[in-house]
Amino acid sequence: MAIVYSCKKCEFQSPKWLGRCPQCNAWDTFGEINEAVQKATKAATATVVNPQKLDQIELPQTNRWPSGMVEFDRVLGGGAIPSSVILIGGEPGIGKSTLLLQVAAALAQSPIQDKPILYVSGEEAAPQIKLRAQRLNMGSLDRLLILNDQRLVGVQAAVEKTNPGALVVDSVQSILPEAGKEGLGSTWQVGQLTFELNQLAKDKKIPVFLIGHVTKAGELAGPKAIEHLVDVVLYLEGTRHGEVRLLRSVKNRYGSTAELGVFQMAADGLKDIANPSEFFTQREGPALPGSVIVPTVEGTRPILVELQALVASNRSGGYAQRRATGLDVNRVVLLMAVVEKRLGMNVGNDDVYVNVAGGLSVRETACDLGTCLSVISSYKNKSIPTDTVVVGEVGLSGEIRLVSRLEARLREAAQLGYKRAIVPAGEKGLKTPLEIQQVQHLGEAVERLGL
Ligand code: TYD
Ligand code: MG
Repeated sequence: MAIVYSCKKCEFQSPKWLGRCPQCNAWDTFGEINEAVQKATKAATATVVNPQKLDQIELPQTNRWPSGMVEFDRVLGGGAIPSSVILIGGEPGIGKSTLLLQVAAALAQSPIQDKPILYVSGEEAAPQIKLRAQRLNMGSLDRLLILNDQRLVGVQAAVEKTNPGALVVDSVQSILPEAGKEGLGSTWQVGQLTFELNQLAKDKKIPVFLIGHVTKAGELAGPKAIEHLVDVVLYLEGTRHGEVRLLRSVKNRYGSTAELGVFQMAADGLKDIANPSEFFTQREGPALPGSVIVPTVEGTRPILVELQALVASNRSGGYAQRRATGLDVNRVVLLMAVVEKRLGMNVGNDDVYVNVAGGLSVRETACDLGTCLSVISSYKNKSIPTDTVVVGEVGLSGEIRLVSRLEARLREAAQLGYKRAIVPAGEKGLKTPLEIQQVQHLGEAVERLGL
């Protein structure tokens, strides 16, 4: 058998001895691999594993472990599955550590199992975590164990010693899989650590929650590089100064990726927003011009939002402004052109500001009709009745086009007490308690609302 040499640092293999490793660039790290080891490796890789018939494969027990944080469990599809690795990504400061400390605390108080929950941080010292926990008002925590360590061996040893029911690792970028190897944040480091934690989850049959930072610039060795190695990928998003946080599932080997969790960041941590529609459409007093309620769909979940527009005459003499918060500004510009051309309404020289109340972002074209009507309502200084919701895509000729899942949207509106809906014409046999007004053109919607 040919003698094979291997780099002691990164395990790169070569049939001949090399002075410098071409993979990790280290000098004088090559040594001969023992023949017995080579044989064993070959034998191991040659072991035949028989393929099974698809219908004879038995499904493993997939008991889910709900943490008790309703919105978190919803996004996971009912709770974490033991033996799975769940990656939670998000920008620094968005609230990942807060969320996972709350999840760990909830699991540590859960009656479904009596083992401790281990929270390992490579970023924060134990007293810092204690301070956060105090801020979060987390009840009795005698089953929550905290470890500050930056080495995988430390994590593994703690798992052996404490036999936890679940493990939180904060964060993938701050724990070294092996001493003396490449620095923190490298692709090798995050990949290797994730691989090892996956093994650990499988060996110990516990869920491992792994936090990963992403930056707006799309960091090199961020969670993107390890998404394929884990079972579930969630992203926590929101505006850093706004209080709303959205938890989205982008990959889930054990459930739907269309789920969305909605939280509010309060002084004592993240709170479930159990009824997002109510939260995003809270309005006090009479309807004001420029405000309209639109039933949107986020993933599979219908959520009512309030769109607000302000049309103000441009006094600066410069270009008219088009600003949008929570909506695509290019779409708003296009819709303004439609309003101008098809309704002959002269908003071209006015400044137009459109906003989704409550800090939510909506990217659906189903909001088009709402965007147009809120602008028209503000322009004419007439309000849209508070008992009415509007939904529909607006085409370039001002025609109103069908949207997906209309019935589900209307159901949500009915549940919150709305009485009337302006919707695209063409959908037959709609089952809804709302009074439906089907419209074919933007002008027709304006007429129906008496704007
Ligand atoms: P953190 O969980 O540390 O973010 P990440 O781990 O994603 O970097 O949370 C950061 C922000 O959240 C911090 O600026 C303060 C705020 N925060 C609250 O508003 N309320 C709270 O109860 C806590 C713990 C944090
Ligand atoms: Mg953190």
